[in-house]
This record gives sequence, structure tokens and C-alpha cells, in this order.
Amino acid sequence: MRKPIIAGNWKLNKTPHEAILLADELKRELVDTTGVDIVVCPPFVDLTDVSDALVDHDIAVGAQNVFWEDAGAFTGEISAPMLKDLGVKYVIIGHSERRQYFYETNETVNKRLRAALKHGLTPIVCVGENLAQRESNKTFDVVKDHCEGSLSGLTKDEIQKIVLAYEPVWAIGTGKTATPQQAQEVHIFIRQLLGKLFDDEIAGSVRIQYGGSVTPDNIVSLMAQADIDGALVGGASLKAPSFAAIVKGAKK
Ligand code: PGA
Repeated sequence: MRKPIIAGNWKLNKTPHEAILLADELKRELVDTTGVDIVVCPPFVDLTDVSDALVDHDIAVGAQNVFWEDAGAFTGEISAPMLKDLGVKYVIIGHSERRQYFYETNETVNKRLRAALKHGLTPIVCVGENLAQRESNKTFDVVKDHCEGSLSGLTKDEIQKIVLAYEPVWAIGTGKTATPQQAQEVHIFIRQLLGKLFDDEIAGSVRIQYGGSVTPDNIVSLMAQADIDGALVGGASLKAPSFAAIVKGAKK
């Protein structure tokens, strides 16, 4: 049985001051956290304050990116040991906005993923096609390429430590959610691919989130799909009541 996991990706939102307010509100909204893993991923500069605010709560803290080297002359980067030191448990890797605006490739995703695993952070690895790719029937090719490239060289032990997120780019921040059926057919495709790359037992144990315009209104129908194990939530994670409603809707 895969435990549902809901992660909030705050993206480039919330100053440290605003982040503390949101974390405090989330604590009040999310009193019962049983049956679902909950993660919030604020910007780097908020991580200390949010970790402190959530120290006595089950909501885990994640980062939105990590560099692959531990330390050195890499101006502007943040390493896995730095995140660990702050109590960070998860890290989003390869989000489509990173791939689109910051030239992230499968190769760099793979390097970040290895650094995260080496230091005991749980990576949330994002894959997904854009609109042009979907419209030209390339969805499965793109998702296969993202999975194979990003997960390249991982051991069976390592793959069980990650979370995958299928995020069709055309559904991110657009209000256009994939239908539960559209999402499910890609989720099962990913799971079968994991079966081929690793084995069926492992494929059955890896959690795959859906992301792209998830709201309290569509979470239940998405979670009703056999291979959807949670959600990576952008816009709706910035308000405590909507994020809490999504968490509640995710309990299978
Ligand atoms: P959205 O973003 O929920 O605002 O569509 C999801 C994401 O980018 O992870």
C-alpha cells in the first residue's frame, strides 16, 4: 500500500515573514495528519523559518532545487549538506520551470538526484510533456525520456527512496487539469516503465504524484485513480485552507 503524499511547491512566493504566517496557519488547519505524508517546499531563504515553525509538526519541509556539489566555488548555489543541516527532508528536482527557464536537462537532474540521495534527502523528480509534445502524440516518448534520463544509473535501493511527479506542462498554473483518465494513463505507463528498468515489485512501491492545477475540487477524482499516489501542488498550496482541503481529499 503506497501512502499518499501531498507536496506544496511555493515557487517564487512568500517572503520569510509571509512564510512564517503560512506555516503557522497550516499547523492550525492540519491538525490530523494521519494517512498522508505532507510536505511544503518554500524558497531557500524561507527554509530556516519554516523549519522552525513546523518543528513540532508532522508537515515536512522540502527545497525546490539542490546543486550537485557539496561545497566549493559555485556562486549562488545551495548544496544538499546545507539543506540537511536545516532539517530539510525533501527536494523537488527537474521541475518543468527549471527545465524551461534554467536549462535543466536530464543529465543535470540526474546529478542533483544523486547528490540528494547521497545526503539522505528524498527527491521529488518531475517529468512531463508540454502542449506541443502532447498535441503531436509525443507524451509517452517525452515521459520515457525524462524518466530514463533522470533516473539513469540508479540502483534498486535508490529508486525506492524517490518520489516521482508527473506534471504535464500545459496543466501547470493554467487551470487546465489533466482529466483523471489522462493522468492515470501516464502514471501506469511510468509504473510499467519502472517495472522494466528495475522490477515489478519496486515499480509497485514507488509513489507517483500528479501535478498541474490540482485543487480541492479535483483532488478526490485524481486520487481515485489506481496509480496516482498524491499531488504536487503549486497555486493552491499558497493558501492554508485550500492546501489543507487537498490534503484531506488525498486520504484514500
Ligand atoms: P500548479 O503548479 O498547481 O499551480 O499548476 C504545479 C507545479 O508546478 O508543481
